[in-house]
Amino acid sequence: MAGKAKILVLGTGGTIAGAGESATTATYKAGQIDASRLIAGIAQLDRIAEVKAETLYAKPSGDLGPREWRALARRVQVAFETSEVDGVVVTHGTDTLEEAAFFLDLLLQSDKPVVFTAAMRPATALGADGPANLFQAVRVAAAPESAERGILVAMNDTVLPGWMAIKTASLPVQAFRAYPGGPLGRVTGERLTYFEPPRRSPLAGRFFLCLDGQRELPAVGIALVHGGCGEAPLAACRDAGYPGVVIAGFGGGTMPAPMAALARRMAKDGVAIVVSSRVGEVAVFPEVMDLREDADVVAASGFLNPQKSALLLSLALAEGRNAAEISTLFGRLPACSGESYGSRL
Ligand code: SIN
Repeated sequence: MAGKAKILVLGTGGTIAGAGESATTATYKAGQIDASRLIAGIAQLDRIAEVKAETLYAKPSGDLGPREWRALARRVQVAFETSEVDGVVVTHGTDTLEEAAFFLDLLLQSDKPVVFTAAMRPATALGADGPANLFQAVRVAAAPESAERGILVAMNDTVLPGWMAIKTASLPVQAFRAYPGGPLGRVTGERLTYFEPPRRSPLAGRFFLCLDGQRELPAVGIALVHGGCGEAPLAACRDAGYPGVVIAGFGGGTMPAPMAALARRMAKDGVAIVVSSRVGEVAVFPEVMDLREDADVVAASGFLNPQKSALLLSLALAEGRNAAEISTLFGRLPACSGESYGSRL
């Protein structure tokens, strides 16, 4: 790449673009500042890249979902088809950033860097974290060594693999970490250091063909267990008519006996059931959950939390995958290693 890298910043809203009435109030409105104003506020960006900005959405990220993320992925794809964009930065709300990063990782096949960033404090706050995070994300997106790593998240001096990013806290600036696994690198000032060579997630770009689909992706329900809930949370998903349901079970994927019985009946009726867990660090494998993949045609989510599992299940259903194929897809993720596109379902 001759000269400075050309980076496109795509704004979608969130706290990073949020504004409050004063610099010290805890209340604010997300998505108030457009992406060009965000970059205009960081004079130092000129030193590291040629940056352009575009605002796609101005929303709290809880109002974004697969429809908006698919449009976002298409915008990234179109940008990369020109020589005018070497890397993309997406500014996003933290609430669903982990889902968006995971979803784009499943859809996009480009080698060029796509880096999500966000903030826990609004742009108007004393000590706002957004400008530093945006600077770091542009630094990461502009670096040739960020290529072929799939979707990345850059925040708080840390670079995370996008598919592993999880939000673990409601308020502190250090709200994200990678799970399973750890950070890929660090940003210190203008210095970017990677700890390991490039590799992608095992399912990177696996659903590339869904990028252009016009039909809405199938809706997937999530049934969250709590003590003494019986079958009620899953029954609500059955009554809503979802073609697929993720059960956010206890620790290793267990659930009250009435819910397990209902899950078996629903699976027999053709509902795709995936079992995940309500804990922060999810690890659900066939041997520890109540339902068995062979007997009950359900998949274990491995290390995926319920919200990421729901996205993967929705894409698998959109492709018309059967229960055994869905189980194989979920089984690929615990590997945590990059593998060639050719060797997968
Ligand atoms: C949001 O996700 O849009 C609000 C919360 C945040 O960005 O931290």
